Amino acid sequence: MIVPTKDLFRHAYGKYAVGAYNINNLEQCVGLFRGNLGKHESNEDSVDPSRSAPFIIQISRGARGYTDKRFLEAMIRAAEDIFPESIFAVHLDHGTEEAAYDCIESGFYSSVMIDASHEPFDKNIEITRRVVDRAHEKGISVEAELGMLGGVEEDIEVSEEHACLTDPDQAVEFVERSGCDSLAVAIGTSHGAYKFKGSQGLHFDRIEQIQKLLPNYPLVMHGSSSVPKEWVDRINQAGGNLPDTSGVPEKDYLPAAKLGVTKVNIDTDGRLVWCAIYRETFLAKPDNFDPRTPGKPFMAAYADYIAHKNQALGSAGQLESLREFLQPQPVS
Ligand code: G3H
Ligand code: 13P
Ligand code: ZN
Repeated sequence: MIVPTKDLFRHAYGKYAVGAYNINNLEQCVGLFRGNLGKHESNEDSVDPSRSAPFIIQISRGARGYTDKRFLEAMIRAAEDIFPESIFAVHLDHGTEEAAYDCIESGFYSSVMIDASHEPFDKNIEITRRVVDRAHEKGISVEAELGMLGGVEEDIEVSEEHACLTDPDQAVEFVERSGCDSLAVAIGTSHGAYKFKGSQGLHFDRIEQIQKLLPNYPLVMHGSSSVPKEWVDRINQAGGNLPDTSGVPEKDYLPAAKLGVTKVNIDTDGRLVWCAIYRETFLAKPDNFDPRTPGKPFMAAYADYIAHKNQALGSAGQLESLREFLQPQPVS
């Protein structure tokens, strides 16, 4: 069931974080739904309530343009049908104004992100306000971004010296003036596989300061992949060439969630799982050229990875409680 993103946030806020996972293709879509229901293989009928989680499917502009945005929409609709127990939201990731309007008008998306974080403060507010007005008319919520994460996202690359943490006072003014429903904050993470060097890590002090000024307001952490060494090593052992690197430690997700980080964006980790499985499969079977040969183990591995991730986010086991929470209350 597709639900408004704000309903997921109301249930999760301060208790756990909702995983927001990017997808581009069918195998990722299937693995994602299975993983969020705690299923490993397609032939498992039963849903494991202790592993089931609400989630957000994120679609970037790159994903919308990879084949055709209508394929993604049709795939997600089919998955909703095939996995009727699931509860999830559909979200535009790193939207421009144009992409945001397209998604708002489509009637399919639960929420959109307008990312004008590269613009000066007032301009970022002005653009965000326009998108908020259009989105709210249709009951769609808006995520905006303030501060600059390092790394590459879509077609914009931000060097480490230009990345800057979100200023808490500015965050309050931004939310008030733009009317956005959630805010992506720069708190030390960056996009992609190369996040931290040495003792760098999440700036919990900054998250705390922002939450003090914006209590009960959902914050979003971009660049949240943990870049597990296990998957990087598997890629390299199967002929890849990724440098030694690290991401956000999974033990940091829940403490951040308790401080209001309600949406945690993960894309890179899924790509690493994909890359490792495809490399390993064809390396082990050099005479094979069937797309289903790596696709099948990938869907299972991705489902397992999602289920594991949801444990770290605290969202595993929350699906049935959310279902109850969303039931209309009887009028007494
Ligand atoms: O933040 C960016 C996401 O990882 C999406 O990446 O634009 O390559 O689809 P993409
Ligand atoms: P990662 O690159 O850490 O997976 O971040 C993804 C993201 O922020 C998508 O918006
Ligand atoms: Zn992002």
